[in-house]
Amino acid sequence: QRDMFQDIFAGRVSKERGAIELKEIDALFDGGKPKFDRIAIVACGTSLHAAMVGRYVIESLTKIPVAVDYASEFRYRDPILDSRTLIVPISQSGETADTLAAEKLAKERGCTVMAICNVLGSSITRAADTTIYTYAGPEIGVASTKAFTAQLVALVLFALDISRRTGSLGAEQIKSMVEEMLKLPRFVADVLEQSDHIKDIAEMIAGAENVLFIGRRHNFPVALEGALKLKEISYVHSEGFAAGELKHGPIALIDSGVPVVAIIPKDESYEKMLSNVEEVKARGAFTIAIASEGDEAINFTVNEVIRIPAASEFIIPILASIPLQLIAYFAADHKGTDVDQPRNLAKSVTVE
Ligand code: AGP
Repeated sequence: QRDMFQDIFAGRVSKERGAIELKEIDALFDGGKPKFDRIAIVACGTSLHAAMVGRYVIESLTKIPVAVDYASEFRYRDPILDSRTLIVPISQSGETADTLAAEKLAKERGCTVMAICNVLGSSITRAADTTIYTYAGPEIGVASTKAFTAQLVALVLFALDISRRTGSLGAEQIKSMVEEMLKLPRFVADVLEQSDHIKDIAEMIAGAENVLFIGRRHNFPVALEGALKLKEISYVHSEGFAAGELKHGPIALIDSGVPVVAIIPKDESYEKMLSNVEEVKARGAFTIAIASEGDEAINFTVNEVIRIPAASEFIIPILASIPLQLIAYFAADHKGTDVDQPRNLAKSVTVE
């Protein structure tokens, strides 16, 4: 993953000027005016989780409303679509049947389609008006890993370029965000250095019956993704929750020793996340924090800590995803399940 960023940034981000330009989206604008009033993202599985993170990023940077739908449900709820809706199918493979069907429905209703996809020339890109390619390189394992982080990067670049064109962010703000994006290879290397520690934690939870992942805001979908990854390749039952929802039901699952992985960076949700962690700890949970470097106080609250670099909130989901992918990988490897080809799953789901 550390090495893919230069391909994603190539021709889009200027290191020297801290500038960004995605030529792929030129046709979606008339000068500084977008030709759309709202964005509707459709995707499945991991790509849907990327879409959910994207909603937070795009809405907060551009102030353009974003809806996110399971592609598998989209065509069955008679969605309200018009020519001012930009449809964004997100897909690693570009061949997912439900995502393709959602895209086709949107085209029939007169929407413009901008795909985010990893596979050049795939069906979803051929049906789209334009595509932001994620350039993560071929992904062999069934579980989407680098394709997911590449989707997150593409969504941030998309949001930043809309902001540049519409003026929703100033040039200096964009420059500092671009400069931070350019640090991603180093940030990711810092996370990967903890692989041995993450392996130890994964082996501690590999035998659990249930594992819970919690997060708030941008990191709520990251919690969903951490749970999907773990169940997909290790077959350990795992669920992700918005931390604020715990008390509405899921907290009943907490018992002595139940692992809870909390994504708790130092951001504006920190205090609320901390009280959620304290709530589950008080009920006996084995708590693992994905926490910011420099947050020493967290050591006194949780059982285990995995560090991610202190970074802006739009970058944190990219960094927080990597230890969760490693937890799933090491747990599966420890159990002896097939990490690349889990049972009952196919890399691209070309049937409904
Ligand atoms: C991810 O690990 C899964 N294998 C699965 O959820 C996948 O993301 C989903 O099937 C969508 O695939 P796509 O991105 O190729 O459309």
